[in-house]
Amino acid sequence: MSKDSELESIREKILKENLPLRDTAKNLVFGKGNPDAKIMFIGEAPGEKEDEEGIPFVGSAGKELDKLLNSIGLNINDVYIANILKYRPPENRNPNVIEIETHTPYLIEQINVIKPKIIITLGNYSTKFVLSSFNTSNMKNIPGITSLHGKQNNLMINGMNFIVIPLFHPAAMLYNPSLRKTLENDFIEIKRILEN
Ligand code: URA
Repeated sequence: MSKDSELESIREKILKENLPLRDTAKNLVFGKGNPDAKIMFIGEAPGEKEDEEGIPFVGSAGKELDKLLNSIGLNINDVYIANILKYRPPENRNPNVIEIETHTPYLIEQINVIKPKIIITLGNYSTKFVLSSFNTSNMKNIPGITSLHGKQNNLMINGMNFIVIPLFHPAAMLYNPSLRKTLENDFIEIKRILEN
């Protein structure tokens, strides 16, 4: 089976599940990009625009992410992007434990298909989930993004080796402009790691 059809069958499986947040969301937001990409970005949850279009990172945070990718010569065809949560939380509130526990098995299935070499986590939830080796009960033991951003972690999870690089969420720099330079510098570090 091709990666595209494997991803499509995961998408169809989610649609059949009565996942938390499904009833308040307009659309499933599954993933976008190149299934053969070496780099996978993991965000937090769809926002309003993503919910409307059923595509991750199409709103203002997505535009910032596109610019950051372009700044190191990459675009959507070089990466795959998905979220921790597959449906939008009402009013973009933070994900709760049950939502993370019920939605992330599908993210893990996506990762198993994509088999990225590098996982870039965007923001606290995604960083804690990946650095706890996909074990939601360990997430509370992982420090916050401020101390972790831009640093390379080599992890073996379920028999697969990943380079994991946590980043501030691009939405954070919209509220806190001083993070823009930090994110730009962390992208330069990603370019360096890719070239090695
Ligand atoms: N923020 C995210 O974490 N994911 C999206 O898809 C959009 C905004």
